[in-house]
Amino acid sequence: MILLGVNIDHVATLRQARYRDEEETFGNFIEPDPAEMAWLAEDAGADGITMHIREDRRHVQLEDVQRYQEKMKTRLNLETSMSLEMVQLAHEIRPESVCLVPENRKEVTTEGGLDVRGNIERANEVVRELLQNGMPVSMFIDPDPDQLEACAEIGAPWVELHTGRFARAWYDLEKREDELNTLKDSMKIGLELGLRVNAGHGINYDNVQGAKTLESIYEFNIGHSIISRSVRTGLEESVQKMRSLLNE
Ligand code: PXP
Repeated sequence: MILLGVNIDHVATLRQARYRDEEETFGNFIEPDPAEMAWLAEDAGADGITMHIREDRRHVQLEDVQRYQEKMKTRLNLETSMSLEMVQLAHEIRPESVCLVPENRKEVTTEGGLDVRGNIERANEVVRELLQNGMPVSMFIDPDPDQLEACAEIGAPWVELHTGRFARAWYDLEKREDELNTLKDSMKIGLELGLRVNAGHGINYDNVQGAKTLESIYEFNIGHSIISRSVRTGLEESVQKMRSLLNE
């Protein structure tokens, strides 16, 4: 069984497009409500909820996460950067897991994986601190053997392989095959290193057919495509559909 983590950030993106200057984040005329949509996704079968509080707070706000936690039914996977401020925030929020991601303020979405090898001292510090405080850590990395080894060296228990390049190559058969093989090789290395391997980014209702062939994948974290489809079909359908495609 492949688990589905639903990333709810884009619900907050829609709210911020209209109401970013309001003092409140929900209630009265303010919509949509990320916490409510997270609960709905859980009712529809999501195995977990992912939220990313970005340093510039461009979509999810701290209040969204705290409100979700009040009535959550599954588990919260909090995405954050490795900055001092964000790691401190993770300690306050105390999610069921933390996914460490790189952050570049100009990017539209998380563009590349975290350079664990290039920032190994800071990564080591953050992973240890979070683990000591009972928060399992996942490292969002490109499918690159050296990055996988760096994650294992610092004792990170989980990784999330960045599937963005594979997703973008979906309509180029040769490139798609190459990217899928790169993911499969990384998957194998990750498992040999004793890591739990998740994956995500850019997965949609078409390319999930290829993505799910990654043997022993534990969980996919999927956001944009599920939220986009829900505009047409409703969130219940879009979550259920993705879940059934992953496991049919
Ligand atoms: N995993 C990570 C670490 C992410 O940062 C994101 C969102 O950028 C996702 C998964 C979900 O990606 P998408 O919205 O493209 O499904």
